[in-house]
Amino acid sequence: MKKIKDTIEKIEKSCLKSCNTAKSADELEQIRVEYLGRSGKIAALMSTLKNCSLEEKRELGPLLNTLKTLLQETYETHKKRIDAKSVSKQLFDVTAYRPHQLRGSTHIYTQLIHELSTIFISMGYTVADGPEVETEYYNFTTLNIPEDHPARDSHDTFWLCTPDRLLRTHTSSVQAHEMEKTTPPLAVFAPGRAYRSEATDATHDFMFTQGEILLINTDVSISNLLATAQEFLQAFFGKNDLKIRVRPGYFPFVEPGLEIDGSCPFCTTGCAICKKTGWIELLGSGLVHPKVLQYSGIDPEKYSGFALGFGIERLAMIKYGINDIRLFHSSNISFMNQF
Ligand code: DAH
Repeated sequence: MKKIKDTIEKIEKSCLKSCNTAKSADELEQIRVEYLGRSGKIAALMSTLKNCSLEEKRELGPLLNTLKTLLQETYETHKKRIDAKSVSKQLFDVTAYRPHQLRGSTHIYTQLIHELSTIFISMGYTVADGPEVETEYYNFTTLNIPEDHPARDSHDTFWLCTPDRLLRTHTSSVQAHEMEKTTPPLAVFAPGRAYRSEATDATHDFMFTQGEILLINTDVSISNLLATAQEFLQAFFGKNDLKIRVRPGYFPFVEPGLEIDGSCPFCTTGCAICKKTGWIELLGSGLVHPKVLQYSGIDPEKYSGFALGFGIERLAMIKYGINDIRLFHSSNISFMNQF
């Protein structure tokens, strides 16, 4: 009898301990079978009662029943604990994602740069890349913007802590890098980010993308520039009848400097996009200034060239009717899903 009582105590202790440390439903099930199963420890104890006296049965019977109930309740409690844990695990299980809901796509920036590159490659250009962290020399000096030039102030520059390092304010900074690398003829398209330390609004951002075109050869004329600009704009807007017009513009690195407008791709008589004028300002351009050629060791007597620059977001905003430039890097999924 004493032996059975000791066994009851031992079983209680060891079963509670096992349940407390069980980590999985499988582990807990094994414990249930070991103690509460048909041939488990409780059943084995019950069967030893058969050989006991009536008196002993009277004392041990209730003890065994209490033990059985206690173990059953303990099992239930721990089952709930483990089940709840596995449900919460499933909710946050990153491997349980549904691929069709999370299907990714190329970002609008990537799509635009790809589309623009395809147009310029088809016209014989190569795609060039330049550093976003620049020196004053490439961002300003080689572009005929010397230190005291007021044009430096109009480029609200992010200066870095490292001396003579800034975030490029335009992709025109790629011009000198390319001219130093190759001897003419050269024809490059340089897309990429530019930065300006200015307040943001629907049409201005501190970070945006530009495209820069540079062509250097012998006998390059304004007509080459205008034909290239028109062909590019027609291809980008998918309008073979898009016309261009030219206004004088000032950029220190080109002479003459030109602002190029395109005829509105959306109307013939004036609409909200062209502000009822029928024309939209699209590109800055001009013939490369002789000093710019000289900075990169190119003889301006022998070579000439044209340069052309544009804001990639600006062109895309017109083409797709986007009303806020900040959407481009906003991580706004519904904006991005449209493209
Ligand atoms: N770099 C100029 C800007 O960011 C844009 C530009 C104007 C580029 C005229 C050119 C150009 O190549 O010829 O405002």
